[in-house]
Amino acid sequence: MTQGKLIVFEGTDGSGKKTQAEFLVRYLTNHNISHATIDFPRYKESFFGSIAEDLLLGKLGENIPPKLAVLPFACDRWQIKNDVISWLEGGKIVLSNRYTASSAVYHAAKLPQSEQQSFIEWVYKLEQEIIGLPKENLVLYFHMPVESAQSLIDKRGNTKDTYEKDTELLKTVETLYLSLVARYPHWKMIQCTKDSQIRPREEIHKEVLDVFAQNGIL
Ligand code: TMP
Repeated sequence: MTQGKLIVFEGTDGSGKKTQAEFLVRYLTNHNISHATIDFPRYKESFFGSIAEDLLLGKLGENIPPKLAVLPFACDRWQIKNDVISWLEGGKIVLSNRYTASSAVYHAAKLPQSEQQSFIEWVYKLEQEIIGLPKENLVLYFHMPVESAQSLIDKRGNTKDTYEKDTELLKTVETLYLSLVARYPHWKMIQCTKDSQIRPREEIHKEVLDVFAQNGIL
């Protein structure tokens, strides 16, 4: 059995990655391609996911040191690690909406710039070396400029988490995501806007499939 592939969708809130994940799942289903999907954090579904939710809503206090704040997110992934490994061993495409990188960039953004890159490496060490989570084969970063994303979040009218309220923080998150795209060949960027307009969802979906084909996923 050929080993499956772990595909991660990343992006700032309001980037449309969840919609793109739904489009992709429909494509995989229609083409009988064996797959599994997962959404992190698993808010209500896991013990640690619900701690992550409390943390995001500020219920655990403000200014939690980043090295502590990332732990419930990492444990949430640890709780489902064996499933992910067996899906991959079973040859599935595993599509994860957010993964280690979300913890790395969102929490690094709270640190002074000089500490951000080493913190990102520390989070990867925690999750991949210490916890032993599978490495991503491909990360798609859906790049939605913060201003456009904010207007979408406002339109959605959902409760904003502590990050969604802070535009400056989100701009730093965006910069850190871009640094990962520049550094790692298995990170690919999908532009969600063109000439300051949000691109049609179907057009972005087609680009996602092209990136998959170029990277030997489909
Ligand atoms: P979302 O549910 O709207 O995608 O938002 C998830 C929030 O949680 C987002 O602000 C990023 C943050 N996050 C982490 O800090 N660490 C993680 O591991 C994950 C998955 C999300």
